[in-house]
Amino acid sequence: MKGKVESLLTQGKLPRHIVVIMDGNGRWANRKGFDRISGHKEGMKSVKSVVKASRELGIKAVTLFAFSAQNWKRPKSEVNALMELLKEYLIKEVNRLVEKEIKLNAIGRLWELPSDVYEVLVKTIEKTKLCKEMTLTLALSYGGREEIIDAIKKIISDGISPEDLHEEIFSQFLYTSNLPEPDLLIRTSGEIRLSNFLLWQLAYTEIYVTKTLWPDFKKKHLIRALINYQNRERRFGLTSDQIRKREVN
Ligand code: IPE
Ligand code: IPE
Ligand code: MG
Repeated sequence: MKGKVESLLTQGKLPRHIVVIMDGNGRWANRKGFDRISGHKEGMKSVKSVVKASRELGIKAVTLFAFSAQNWKRPKSEVNALMELLKEYLIKEVNRLVEKEIKLNAIGRLWELPSDVYEVLVKTIEKTKLCKEMTLTLALSYGGREEIIDAIKKIISDGISPEDLHEEIFSQFLYTSNLPEPDLLIRTSGEIRLSNFLLWQLAYTEIYVTKTLWPDFKKKHLIRALINYQNRERRFGLTSDQIRKREVN
């Protein structure tokens, strides 16, 4: 049976692609008197919960910011723990992903990952490549500016001429070329910034910031974000009137 909040969702359109800045693991741990790594471990439970809930709700694409290009500068012990947790997640979850028809995808400078993590990642992507119900993308060693620079480098080396370059072509050179535009960005822990996430792709994404720390963020919080999204009017530069007419037709 659907919960009371969940049933509210049936009244509106669901986002096709949700992207999440999973933030606040360290503060969660701090508040409890634990070390930061315990916060990351607890955060993995929220990853599982949000992936499961998204799949149940019929969301087609979820992208999680798991490790930024800038996060390499954190203490080595924390970086190592994050890499181990990622590997553990992939190894433990692969069967469930296949069973639930969830295709794994990854974006970022993946070649910068430790080779053991990279290998497990590639294997998991391979094992889930035929899954069709949902795409789960992990942003790893990811930075929006880095992505734009990488795209420009490819555009130049492919010899694309300036008159052929337009938005759609440019998008094809980004790591996200196979994904729909993000409809909803969720950032936990109350920080109101993008932190170098999907700088190009977020142009018209609806932004939802919650004070809830990532390890506390579960299905009911996701549903709250979705209900909030459903009450937005996405205008894309048009007027309300134009949007309403478009919806009727
Ligand atoms: C998010 O939590 C996880 C990563 C960035 C890898 P943080 O580790 O940033 O937690 P806070 O922001 O310090 O609380
Ligand atoms: C963004 O969080 C990166 C991830 C969630 C992986 P950060 O905690 O690194 O961002 P800042 O430092 O607060 O901007
Ligand atoms: Mg943070």
